[in-house]
Amino acid sequence: MTSHPQDSPYDAIAELYDPWSRSVTEDVGFYVEEARRAGGPVVELGVGTGRIAVPTATAGIDVIGVDSSRGMLAVCAERARLAGVAARLDLRVGDLREPPVGKRVALVTCPFRSLLHMRNDTDRRRALAAARELLLPRGRLVFDVFAPSRDDVEETDGRWLEREPGIWERAEWDLETKTLTLSVRGESGEGTMELSWLAPQEWHELLESTGFEVEACYGWFDRTPYAGGEDTVWIAQRSS
Ligand SMILES: C[S@@+](CC[C@H](N)C(=O)[O-])C[C@H]1O[C@@H](n2cnc3c(N)ncnc32)[C@H](O)[C@@H]1O
Repeated sequence: MTSHPQDSPYDAIAELYDPWSRSVTEDVGFYVEEARRAGGPVVELGVGTGRIAVPTATAGIDVIGVDSSRGMLAVCAERARLAGVAARLDLRVGDLREPPVGKRVALVTCPFRSLLHMRNDTDRRRALAAARELLLPRGRLVFDVFAPSRDDVEETDGRWLEREPGIWERAEWDLETKTLTLSVRGESGEGTMELSWLAPQEWHELLESTGFEVEACYGWFDRTPYAGGEDTVWIAQRSS
């Protein structure tokens, strides 16, 4: 692993992350399918504990995984070792706005809303431009994000909810600044992180202005076209 001086709020919840996200499985097959379509290798930005990267490697595709959390990468490395695919994973500590990757690939992914950690358009543009730089001509960036519904905000705002047995989550929504402050606590850790969302049209405009053509915007991982709702799944092609 390469080194990076900064700490990440994910370090404190690295051991909690997998039990916390245990029920999130709907996206794994989708990202593995995209990796197969690209033929590998894949760069995953915000690779985390390898929830997507390890199944991708198990499918025979090499992954370069970048993450700013050393703790998350340590869990990822152990998960890959246990799955017998450590040799297929190249894990690097780094910022997704400036990924420490020289190689050019056909597919860059940023699964499970990691781009929401970009807090303003300057950072979003930096992240998208950096992803574009990693792509071969006509290569694809695939990512998913969300924008909350009013119902979701009203049902959850400020309340501790048990997401998994013994794992509690609290969302504090700021509709003015479009910011979610998300706290999680459980036996193996606790932490708080901030996420900022955009409307789908704003993501579309950002992609086009950073050198991508939007090939598809799905409303779910079954490739249903987006028709309103909280989730969007984007396939964007490097335009030149
Ligand atoms: C919601 S998790 C997603 C992890 C993994 N992709 C998955 O699908 O489970 C977000 C990840 O993005 C990483 N992250 C957040 N900000 C980052 C940044 N600026 N640069 C690199 N990684 C970042 C976090 O450390 C965390 O591992």
